[in-house]
Amino acid sequence: MPVALVTGANRGIGLEVCRQLAARGYRVLLAARDPIQADLAAHTIAGNVHPLVLDVTDAASIARAGADAVERFGRVDVLVNNAAILVDENSELFDISIDAFRASMETNVLGAIAVCQAFVPGMIERRFGRVVNVSSRAGQLATMSDYAPAYSISKAALNAFTRQLAAAANGTGVLVNSACPGWVRTDMGGSNAPRSVAQGADTIVWLAAAEEPAGRSGRFWHDRRERPTHYAGRTREDAADRRALWEACEALTA
Ligand SMILES: NC(=O)c1ccc[n+]([C@@H]2O[C@H](COP(=O)([O-])OP(=O)(O)OC[C@H]3O[C@@H](n4cnc5c(N)ncnc54)[C@H](OP(=O)(O)O)[C@@H]3O)[C@@H](O)[C@H]2O)c1
Repeated sequence: MPVALVTGANRGIGLEVCRQLAARGYRVLLAARDPIQADLAAHTIAGNVHPLVLDVTDAASIARAGADAVERFGRVDVLVNNAAILVDENSELFDISIDAFRASMETNVLGAIAVCQAFVPGMIERRFGRVVNVSSRAGQLATMSDYAPAYSISKAALNAFTRQLAAAANGTGVLVNSACPGWVRTDMGGSNAPRSVAQGADTIVWLAAAEEPAGRSGRFWHDRRERPTHYAGRTREDAADRRALWEACEALTA
């Protein structure tokens, strides 16, 4: 059975992703920065679930988690970069300290990059892997406004990293995508959010399990549908599709 590692999984969407992956039969490494929280959370889930200590902002912690995962399970096939912080939801750009920007980038972007640097080379070597970066529509440049500047900028950067990693892993059997769970009832989303954690985890697990999306990599998804991260207009792929359709019609009517 594939081995899946989920960061920031002691609560919220990450915990639910672990639950859904375990229900599908995955061996799950439930990673959290606090060992007691990791242990407690792992015990709430039925199936093959194992706590792992991993602080995504701490290089030594990532190295230890990598060694621990390989020693106990031999490999990691699926990586869900879920850990994140939202420290500036009700703040305005000019009022946010540079430290808040730095902390957001360190956890939400550099954390995911460092964890990928630890685990993705092994996937590439084995010619199989799935990486899901848990992002947000707040990071879509096409619609970005003034909501939570540090968080939104960090998620835009995470989407950019998704493109870079997908390109670096192109043709290796490792698919890399990012997904927005929607507005979800968690500590981060608050109690007024319309979605349950089960709904929020759905697309993430769908990408992680990757029966779909038919080999697609470097994309941004919401509700199992691909969404534009930057420009909502026509893309080069659209133009190629239109040309192919035109040629097929011409061939049929010739
Ligand atoms: N909820 C929403 O409406 C919503 C919407 C769009 C996107 N998202 C995204 O969905 C993901 C999960 O969000 P959530 O709502 O479940 O958030 P949450 O309830 O606040 O949980 C965040 C998780 O990240 C962990 N974390 C924070 N810093 C960490 C670090 N340095 N190392 C390891 N773990 C760390 C937290 O651990 P501790 O318990 O130790 O703090 C916690 O387990 C995030 O990427 C978020 O941006 C959420």
